[in-house]
Amino acid sequence: MAIEKVGVVGCGLMGSGIAQVAAQAGCQVTVREVSQQLLDKGLQGIEKNLARLVEKGTLSAADRDQVRGRLRGTTNLEDLKDSDVIIEAIIEQLPAKRELWGALDKICPKPTIFASNTSSLSITEMATFTQRPDRFVGMHFFNPVPVMKLVEVIRTIATDPKVFDEMVAFGQRLGKTVVRTSDRTGFIVNRLLVPYLLDAVRALEEGVGSVEDIDNSMKIGCGYPMGPFTLLDFVGLDTTYYISIIMFDEFKERRFASPPLLKRMVLAGWNGRKAGRGFYDYSDPAKPKAMQLT
Ligand code: CAA
Repeated sequence: MAIEKVGVVGCGLMGSGIAQVAAQAGCQVTVREVSQQLLDKGLQGIEKNLARLVEKGTLSAADRDQVRGRLRGTTNLEDLKDSDVIIEAIIEQLPAKRELWGALDKICPKPTIFASNTSSLSITEMATFTQRPDRFVGMHFFNPVPVMKLVEVIRTIATDPKVFDEMVAFGQRLGKTVVRTSDRTGFIVNRLLVPYLLDAVRALEEGVGSVEDIDNSMKIGCGYPMGPFTLLDFVGLDTTYYISIIMFDEFKERRFASPPLLKRMVLAGWNGRKAGRGFYDYSDPAKPKAMQLT
């Protein structure tokens, strides 16, 4: 089956990025948000990204107009009923996912493939919210979606191998490098990334180095594009904390356990860049100021 019509649920940071790359890849995209206000915010983000590409000469103005023409926003879930594939990128809460997938399962015809962009919840469990576990996969993108070239495609024990192959091909069509993985919490990237980020917080707690020195060590010493604290602020401390809870629950290993400092910062609402404060203070966004532990 050729995937031409793509439904995206959620037009936040991840959903808007997914909608953008699918429209740029030539798909007809319908992206749904719960309110007009959130939808407008997401679509404005896409518009800004496309404008930047035109400015840089990566995309012609005519191509930008075609991408726009392939992209439609809605607040009505029913508008996704003709989709060949639906990619869900809503809040990482199982009850919300259960309600959404149950509703989509009734709205969409049997052949529609369902894919979740979850970073930590079980794809197998989500598939049980529908009558089509054989047509259910994970499709995990990375932030910022238009820039990061990787997508993890995740199969469960119930996924039809043909559907899995179709979604691998679809990921490639989106211009991504696809890695195939199975439904184990954290998949490949977060299995390795989350313990590393948590260890950086533990090193800070133990006085091994300052926020800036630990960041510079990994950035300059190892060539990472961002140090662990800059990355934690970028991903969101709350997001990383919730992923660590789910991973610890699954594996019961210390390396997935959240250090007390991370939990305290999340409790205080210091969730990183989006909150204006995390391991850095972004009061002056051009000059983030590193947190000093006394
Ligand atoms: N949206 C679209 N494009 C963006 C962007 C955004 N939010 N942010 C940056 N870009 C583009 C810029 O326009 C620029 O494009 P050109 O090279 O064509 O000019 C390019 O990305 C580089 O940007 P900058 O020069 O401004 O900054 P940079 O070189 O520091 O790159 C970065 C920014 C790509 C974010 C880089 O720092 C990076 O790769 N950081 C690591 C990101 C990462 O690890 N992401 C994964 C997080 S984990 C996750 O998402 C999954 C999970 O489950 C938690």
